Amino acid sequence: MTVEWRGKPVWIVNRTPEMVERTESFDVERLADPNSEVPQQPAYIEGPLRSIRPEIGVLIGICTHLGCSPLFKPEPDAEGVGTDNWPGGYFCPCHGSRFDLAGRVFRNVPAPTNLEVPPYRFETDEIIVVGEDEETA
Ligand code: FES
Repeated sequence: MTVEWRGKPVWIVNRTPEMVERTESFDVERLADPNSEVPQQPAYIEGPLRSIRPEIGVLIGICTHLGCSPLFKPEPDAEGVGTDNWPGGYFCPCHGSRFDLAGRVFRNVPAPTNLEVPPYRFETDEIIVVGEDEETA
């Protein structure tokens, strides 16, 4: 689903165990910043999935190149993403940037950084609060 935070679209994506496995095992050599060293996420967001819970991805849905909205292409055989061995993820049709299901940017695309992860926290198992984290709640 898409919600809005500070005027920006925020994607909340339910990742299946298979999607999680594909993302965790993807070839990091194809990614520009696989360990999220550029601060595009709160400090508590760590690991290849860039999320608090593996099965829930929370990303700002704005390409880090020039601000288009990437397309959700979760299937490994998705068409039109311009690469082989696609792990599932997000494809920006404006200039061809690619991101995996954790929002990690591929190498050699126009987008310079991973998609942004906003601050968020789980109020309950069913409710996510975007824009607040455990420390600011
Ligand atoms: S705005 Fe997404 S690739 Fe240029």
